[in-house]
Amino acid sequence: MSKLAKAEKAAKAEVQGELRPGQSVELLKELHILTREGRLNQDSRRKLKQVYHLFQFIEKLLQELPGDGAGATLADHGAGKSYLGFIIYDLFFKARGGGHVYGIETRTDLVDKSRALAGRLHFERMSFLNLTVAESATATELPERIDVVTALHACDTATDDAIAFGLAKHASFMVLVPCCQAEVAACLRQTKALALSRTPLAELWRHPLHTREIGSQLTNVLRCLYLEANGYQVTVTELVGWEHSMKNELIIARHTGQRKASAAARLSELLAQFGLESLMETRFRLP
Ligand SMILES: C[S@@+](CC[C@H](N)C(=O)[O-])C[C@H]1O[C@@H](n2cnc3c(N)ncnc32)[C@H](O)[C@@H]1O
Repeated sequence: MSKLAKAEKAAKAEVQGELRPGQSVELLKELHILTREGRLNQDSRRKLKQVYHLFQFIEKLLQELPGDGAGATLADHGAGKSYLGFIIYDLFFKARGGGHVYGIETRTDLVDKSRALAGRLHFERMSFLNLTVAESATATELPERIDVVTALHACDTATDDAIAFGLAKHASFMVLVPCCQAEVAACLRQTKALALSRTPLAELWRHPLHTREIGSQLTNVLRCLYLEANGYQVTVTELVGWEHSMKNELIIARHTGQRKASAAARLSELLAQFGLESLMETRFRLP
């Protein structure tokens, strides 16, 4: 065997070692995880590991659903190129012959591309809707119930809209990796968190960069309390391996039906202390 043929064989074996049974090579090429020649480089291997890592969280949740999740519905908000939805479909739903993945995205070009790719791969139970997350909560194209809601780096308040969507659709699980958040920081800048302004705590948002960071942190804390107040058990972890992004907080909410009164009280108190009562009427309206 020539040197070239040997190298080709080794590269093929390497790719085979990374693939799951039945996984679409064509999809991985489209997602630029594999090169057009079907090769894997170090960057791609890292990317594949990250995608698998996130998928593993979601797979476990899907398997908790009736019928081991075979007929589950999943909506991915702020889908972008929909690589998360595609990977979930390819690794979970494709072989099961049931279930449906919805990708919600405002950019028409990305929606068109995802539709075309799903057509080429014969991923029939995938739909891509050119809607905002907020619009999708009442859109007729979606069923009344969605089992799993995902939102990976959905911009700004799109994560809040995804939570509202999950509540409206009685989702069993929500998997959220929030993106940058500006709304709370803007409120903080305006109100200067009056109740706290005379305390040393005000140092936490004196500099504009800190205002932004604490705004983002506070937003995620408020989101978790809001989910708990609405009958979800919440875990917050790091999306390990997501080194390419500063935003790697993973919030997993599991519906238990037990509305935590203490979380609702804490949410109201925090909003009041930080001078964010206006958000009580919009984002964090309690049941
Ligand atoms: C940072 S990208 C993340 C894409 C993908 N989830 C990922 O992690 O690769 C955010 C995407 O959300 C979309 N988006 C932002 N706000 C949205 C909204 N309110 N409704 C639907 N899509 C939105 C943007 O067009 C963009 O494609």
